[in-house]
Amino acid sequence: MDQVTESKVIGVATPRIDGPLKVSGSAMYASDHHFPGLLYAWPVCATISNGTIAHMDTAGAEKMPGVVAVYHRENIGKLYRVPPSTGFTLIVDEKRPPFEDDTIRYYGQYVAVVVAQTVEQARAAAESVKATCNKEKPDIGEKLLGTPLTTDKPDEKSKRGDTAAALTAAKVKVDAVYKIPVETHNPIELHASVAVFDGKKYTLYETSQAVVNHRDVMAQMLGVPTEQVQVITRFLGSGFGGKLWPWPHGLLAAACARNLGRPVKLVVSRQMMFQTVGHRPAVDQRIQLAADADGKLTAVQQDYVNHTSMLDDYDEGCGEITPFLYSTPNLLVTGGLVRRNVGNPTAMRGPGAVPGLFALESAMDELAIALKMDPVQLRLKNEPALDESLNIPFSSRHMKECLTVGSEKFGWAKRTPEIGSMKRDGLTLGWGMAACSWLAARIETEATVELLQDGSARVACGTQDIGGGTYTVMAQVVSHETGIPVNRIDVVLGDSSLPPGPISGGSWVTASMTPAVLAASQNAGKTLLLAAIKSDGSPFKGKKQEELELVDGTVRLKGQQQGAVPMAEILRIAKVNSVSGTGKSDGTFGAKPKVSFHSYGAQFAEVTWQPETARLRVSRVVTVIDAGRILNPRPARNQIEGAVVMGVGMAMFEETMYDARSGAPINNNLADYVVAVNADTPEIDVTFLDYPDYQLNALGARGVGEIGLAGIASAITNAVYHATGIRVRDLPVRIEDLL
Ligand code: MOS
Repeated sequence: MDQVTESKVIGVATPRIDGPLKVSGSAMYASDHHFPGLLYAWPVCATISNGTIAHMDTAGAEKMPGVVAVYHRENIGKLYRVPPSTGFTLIVDEKRPPFEDDTIRYYGQYVAVVVAQTVEQARAAAESVKATCNKEKPDIGEKLLGTPLTTDKPDEKSKRGDTAAALTAAKVKVDAVYKIPVETHNPIELHASVAVFDGKKYTLYETSQAVVNHRDVMAQMLGVPTEQVQVITRFLGSGFGGKLWPWPHGLLAAACARNLGRPVKLVVSRQMMFQTVGHRPAVDQRIQLAADADGKLTAVQQDYVNHTSMLDDYDEGCGEITPFLYSTPNLLVTGGLVRRNVGNPTAMRGPGAVPGLFALESAMDELAIALKMDPVQLRLKNEPALDESLNIPFSSRHMKECLTVGSEKFGWAKRTPEIGSMKRDGLTLGWGMAACSWLAARIETEATVELLQDGSARVACGTQDIGGGTYTVMAQVVSHETGIPVNRIDVVLGDSSLPPGPISGGSWVTASMTPAVLAASQNAGKTLLLAAIKSDGSPFKGKKQEELELVDGTVRLKGQQQGAVPMAEILRIAKVNSVSGTGKSDGTFGAKPKVSFHSYGAQFAEVTWQPETARLRVSRVVTVIDAGRILNPRPARNQIEGAVVMGVGMAMFEETMYDARSGAPINNNLADYVVAVNADTPEIDVTFLDYPDYQLNALGARGVGEIGLAGIASAITNAVYHATGIRVRDLPVRIEDLL
């Protein structure tokens, strides 16, 4: 496909077309759906994290007011596991269907579910169910490195050269362990499921970042053909990865609807959000760096271990970026898993890269200090010419420019390296920085575009908008190709019955969806030109299709403004309501890569430190992002700003704490699990380099959902070191660390 170099809409700051629906409260989120005869489900959660259920007394709950049914292992009916799969299909983190056996493996595991007339009745009854359990000591130990793994030895993830020899021979070395705690996804929209069953077909209103996968998983787990399941997610109040794959509550809602023949709503409580819908796992990482006296890296070794649940293997993949970020002849990345009595971990914004870069970019800062070298210079010095892990070129990498532009915008040249040497208004300043990267990819996508007689267009794709602006960007792509204004384009997504579209994960939607929508728009345009040359009464009747073009919503002779006929007029003459086209784009996964697709960035952070009161604030962040062409700067900037705020949370506040005796997450609410809010938000300066990556797609777009969070936490802890001389390697930074 041709490169799209110029456009009236692509790259133009365009307000979200779904904005008015959201701010007026008319956008329908999953839990907003209501149907006649709707019942409410509330799960019964285990209050131990290791053991077996000896007996469950549901008789009392069954007699409580409004209770319609109490389901558990004996009466929930058939539920199945998903078969093994490869690629982006049939993905579910927790493979065991709820109630499959009597073993409790984590705190909050669902052991029964109550269905009642009102949510209050369901909750009251659920809380009255008494389970007698054989309780065993849970394992939620905090130390991961050095603990027995699920495999005999760690997995080798990437290797080149002789790292051990280079580390031994090195002039300058860093060897340190970095830890991140469990972080819990806390989108404001709770996970929810409204299940409707008509005796044959399930219609599931879900909080899903992947409606097509969700349909396929639910069909397997319910034991019905995929045509008998439809998953709808019109709007999402974000998800951060927690809503990528189905969780047990969705299956429970569907099973209850099946058993009762009535619609059932199940909204996961904030407390349950800490138990049963995933989290970023705790990770320990040992980083060893070796360099020449002049700062050239000679070896990089990263050994990470993350916790996973008792049954499933979730690999955080912390070494994803390490193999290609810097030039080094010797490299080794290993990973391992340790089982804990916790719910299943899952992808959380920038999985792997975000914790991985916290460790690597902290270690790079420590190396710069050991070398007495500027940290920006250290990174510039080790910039690779190609992806050394795969020996292939980068599609489009402008890391050096990220670093130099960021330095300039931040004023890095004014930095004095001595600890605590910079002051402003009586505060000690700390300046730190980090480099970052995130993978770019396309996944298989189909889309349809319809051009209508009323002058509007409709574009449909089975993807979803997590809040990042997918509705708007889809409209922009159609508008670019057809000339129909963005506000006349009806974007239809969030429905598994639409042509299969990409997951809202990996920051891949924009790169994946745009080529399919572009092709669909072009194909619809071609059909329109056919109508123009074939219809009686058309001024273009008898012309050849290649003599015509669709420009600015009009059909005309190529290059001739005069005699242009509006698209709507052509369709009226042809007496058809609409013409349509479909488009497909393929994926970049699977095949051996010829180029290395990634986004890059540089993060600069300023902290202010008041030793007298032990007050630490992140005051300023400058972020420069190389994420290909930015199709819509408004939501793109918004994504990066949101990620920076999340990075402040990661560095300073976020940590899910478990009670070692019960295995319960104890700060399971938004008062005790502290996320960064407006008052914690620094001044944020976002710059996009905006170099199109035409090898990834015709529009040159990569994606911005996750890259903004990568590197931020280390930029902040590096700044904390600069201000205080204290190296925090164990997130989050606690005031106690600094006293
Ligand atoms: Mo993102 S963690 O791939 O939703």
